Amino acid sequence: MEIQTTDLDTSWLEDSNWFHSIDYGNDLISRGRFSKKVPPNYTIYGVYELLKDIDLRDMTCMDIGTMDGIVALTLKNLGAKHVIATDMAKCETFVKGCELLNYEIEYKTPVRMDEIPELLGPQKLDLVVNAGILYHVLDPVETLRICRGILKKNGLLILETQYLFDERRPIMSFNPYDNGRRGNPNANTFWRAGKKTIEGMLELNAFKILSTVSVNGRFTVVAQACDPAQVDSKYPKMKNVHETYLRDEHYRERVDYDGLTKEKTSSDIKYLGERTDRFIFRSLYKSNMPFQPVWRTGKANKIKTFFNDLKFWISTKIARI
Ligand SMILES: C[S@@+](CC[C@H](N)C(=O)[O-])C[C@H]1O[C@@H](n2cnc3c(N)ncnc32)[C@H](O)[C@@H]1O
Repeated sequence: MEIQTTDLDTSWLEDSNWFHSIDYGNDLISRGRFSKKVPPNYTIYGVYELLKDIDLRDMTCMDIGTMDGIVALTLKNLGAKHVIATDMAKCETFVKGCELLNYEIEYKTPVRMDEIPELLGPQKLDLVVNAGILYHVLDPVETLRICRGILKKNGLLILETQYLFDERRPIMSFNPYDNGRRGNPNANTFWRAGKKTIEGMLELNAFKILSTVSVNGRFTVVAQACDPAQVDSKYPKMKNVHETYLRDEHYRERVDYDGLTKEKTSSDIKYLGERTDRFIFRSLYKSNMPFQPVWRTGKANKIKTFFNDLKFWISTKIARI
């Protein structure tokens, strides 16, 4: 899309704090949170990689925790009929970006994960993107239960999160107590899960894992909302949970397998990509997504980042043997 910049005040691009680096066209590019040493928005490369194989035309989508809104803008650009973006706090950069592009996106703030079902009421979605949130919430299983509850049957969740990339066990680390090398210094980080734990939490909530993408310490999954009986888990205990958990009235978490089994509204959305566990080298990745800027940096940074990526790749490979 061509933007007429002559009469536009774009000083907000310079003056604002940015989370995402967004290429709005006509050399209007926001800074983003990373220095030039790191590829812009690399944490969502997995989201890009999975989105490119989903036809969004006629679909109703939600981007939870949108920040400056690069994912919400991308969903709109890829043809989604209706996009809802939520956040804990309003970002003027989101509002200004939509104005600049003349994009109509339903923007709701402040909205916490647990407030989303009430926000939507009976409306159900075709696609939910939940990126960069799972480690910030006190209860990651509940967050995924909410994502499942707001999707139509067969709808898709793209979940992106930090994870324990070198962990093969089905565990989760409680970050405020984790003084080891895995600990993250941020006060807003509670849990960091391994790959198996993330996949298990999704299956527990009646999601079928379709494909995954790893980018260094980040993990993205596309999962399909399904009937609990169709999860098709490799783990017999998971099947047992789906079949028997609700039969004992002394043990009843909020998950409602019977309700999910009876769901009527179904989505036509499809993930048409490969069913694989991919690893992306962020130093080499080239995205053709509409608002992703090219990584302009020196050769030394590119080489350094490549070797850093290689280290992650080796650790990830070893953990998955
Ligand atoms: C790390 S940023 C991720 C931004 C963007 N989704 C991305 O991946 O680039 C985390 C976002 O999650 C939102 N957030 C944090 N805790 C949340 C919660 N409990 N419920 C909903 N959103 C939350 C924040 O306001 C912020 O927008």
